Amino acid sequence: MVPTKFPVLPYGGDYNPDQWPEDIWHEDMRLFREAGINTLTLPVFAWARIQPAPDVFDFEWLDRILGLIHENGLKVCLSTPTVAQPAWMARMHPEMMPVDEHGRRRNHGKRVNFCPNSPIYRHHAAIITEKMAGRYGDHPALMLWHVANEYGTWCFCDTCAAAFREWLKARYGTIEALNRHWNLSFWGHLVSDWEDVVPPSELNDDNKWYPAKMLDYQRFMTDASIGCFENEAAILRRVTPNIPVTTNISGLIHRLDQFRFAPHVDIIAWDNYPHPTDPPAKVALKHDLMRGLRDGQSFLMIESTPSQQNWQPYNVLKQPGLLRLLGYQALAHGADGVMYFQMRASVGGVEKFHGAVIGHSGTADTRVFRECAAIGRELEAIGVRFQGARTSSRVAVIFDWDSWWGTALSSGPSRDLEYFAQVQKWYTALHGAHHSVDIVRHDADLSGYDLVVAPLLYLLHPGDAARLEMFVSCGGTLVVTTFSGMVDENDNVGTGGYPAELRHLLGLWVEEFDALLPGQKNRMLLSQARSVEALPGNGMTACDCGLLCGLVRPTDAEPAARYGEGFYAGTPCLTRNEYGQGTAWYVATDPEDAFVSEFLQARCREAGILPVLEAPAAVEVTRRETGDRQFTFLLNHAQTTHTLDLAASFPPKAFTTGRLWPDNLPLPRTLTLPPLGVAILETETDNVKEA
Ligand code: GLA
Ligand code: ZN
Repeated sequence: MVPTKFPVLPYGGDYNPDQWPEDIWHEDMRLFREAGINTLTLPVFAWARIQPAPDVFDFEWLDRILGLIHENGLKVCLSTPTVAQPAWMARMHPEMMPVDEHGRRRNHGKRVNFCPNSPIYRHHAAIITEKMAGRYGDHPALMLWHVANEYGTWCFCDTCAAAFREWLKARYGTIEALNRHWNLSFWGHLVSDWEDVVPPSELNDDNKWYPAKMLDYQRFMTDASIGCFENEAAILRRVTPNIPVTTNISGLIHRLDQFRFAPHVDIIAWDNYPHPTDPPAKVALKHDLMRGLRDGQSFLMIESTPSQQNWQPYNVLKQPGLLRLLGYQALAHGADGVMYFQMRASVGGVEKFHGAVIGHSGTADTRVFRECAAIGRELEAIGVRFQGARTSSRVAVIFDWDSWWGTALSSGPSRDLEYFAQVQKWYTALHGAHHSVDIVRHDADLSGYDLVVAPLLYLLHPGDAARLEMFVSCGGTLVVTTFSGMVDENDNVGTGGYPAELRHLLGLWVEEFDALLPGQKNRMLLSQARSVEALPGNGMTACDCGLLCGLVRPTDAEPAARYGEGFYAGTPCLTRNEYGQGTAWYVATDPEDAFVSEFLQARCREAGILPVLEAPAAVEVTRRETGDRQFTFLLNHAQTTHTLDLAASFPPKAFTTGRLWPDNLPLPRTLTLPPLGVAILETETDNVKEA
């Protein structure tokens, strides 16, 4: 892997000069310089322009624009244009077009519209990549390769069906093993020949009725996209071994297992398009997930909109200051760059009303341009001082795509059981208390953490249970929430009582799960624990719970709360099990947010885990560290002003030598954060007290 040290803090984004006459390019350069833009991503959608016919290549316009960009001192995130193939390719090779879940072969159009397993698509993608690498590999503006754009096409064509069979053979070896692992005795689905295996689609409804098959198809489709990426990345790495290679992850990331994808890129890059009503913690969680994809390595926010989107039902403007706040939020969680889609607004096409640095007026005299330029100047001043800086956390939340897919595919017990929402709920409680959190994969090394939360970890891979047992027996605190550990990696339920593989660690088994009706609640009666230390919350005596109620049969675990209502009133809904040197909690139901917050803060206190900094609830706090420096980010998400006593938060030496960014001033004793205000406190690592 190539170390991703950039000469600048990348600020810029998608630029489509192929949509504009060349005289506009010169104006663009002037405006980019004025806005502090230093990095441009191109030519993402220009394959048809570069290769108008199979044997015709026109790179001259690209040579000219890349030359101009370099003359103006900007860097390039050079994309292979392979996300949108030229029309001639689809005409000449209709078999490269994807077949949808209804069995329909698609026409040419749109983008990401090819069969990811198509040999002819990959053949042509390799040719254009080889040419791009050969022509621009030594270009002085080249900083980063960007392969295609937002992978995620699925296909159900015969090529994919054949490739799926090969994938299954490699995974299971024999038909007998496949029958067993997919439990194909159910509804008499046993197969006797590999040819009998067809992709799960709307043609057979196996996409709904056979979760094990669908799970494997999702894994297989992730691997198909990785195959497309590697087809090009291998060429780029051969020709330009010192240039990092990435691809951008769509913000709607359910489709592809990004933990599977992550080892293939040199740096994670993702597109951040929050819904206007998304709480800051949801965006924070996604950033932390991106940082977690490569074990804490910093990443790029490679797209975001400078003002509004076009594809929401209602495309709200970002109020003044929000763009800046969201940019700094990315940096606060581990981003090394802030980038936009797009530089200049298109005049035609579906995205013509999507936000851009340069709007349709074409001038610098707009609110959005002025805000972008102000941010550009600030980031220029900050420079690369925290590039690559890492975040150290004593708390981890496990995130697992298979559990996400598995719960979405599960028929029962409740349609309202949503994986991402559950992770968000438990993460939000920690985030709101200003704790630094790492989002980690299911098989992460947990030894560096004191508290691990496993929300709705529905599916366990081989070895997961043993890893969790090891973590707790060495002194860790583990919180496992309802409906975790229900199935193995092929979606088969473990027998002998739920959650089969975690029974021992949790000291219990669950007999049944009751799904509550919409709006229906039960009560959690707290303070039922035998010892004071075992009290779950912070003086709370009861709270609501809903969604699911697991009916727990403790074996070794101590009940810490009991249900207040229904035929199972009085039975445990929260348990605590001492295991080795540590403690494993089981939350059998879905408690109200206030409890989750109290409960996790109590666990942090017990484990001696301190918040990054004491701050008002609306002020988000994170910290990144690099060598001897640490950077504490303060982000005021409120519409009101907040003040913080910095002198009291840092030891005298760190306080007096610290700097306040982006203004590059000494640290003030009292920091005033206006609505949507941001501050970065740079201090010496050694001299900073823990909170
Ligand atoms: C995605 C794509 C971009 C653009 C934006 C618009 O992130 O990668 O090409 O379409 O959405 O929001
Ligand atoms: Zn296909």
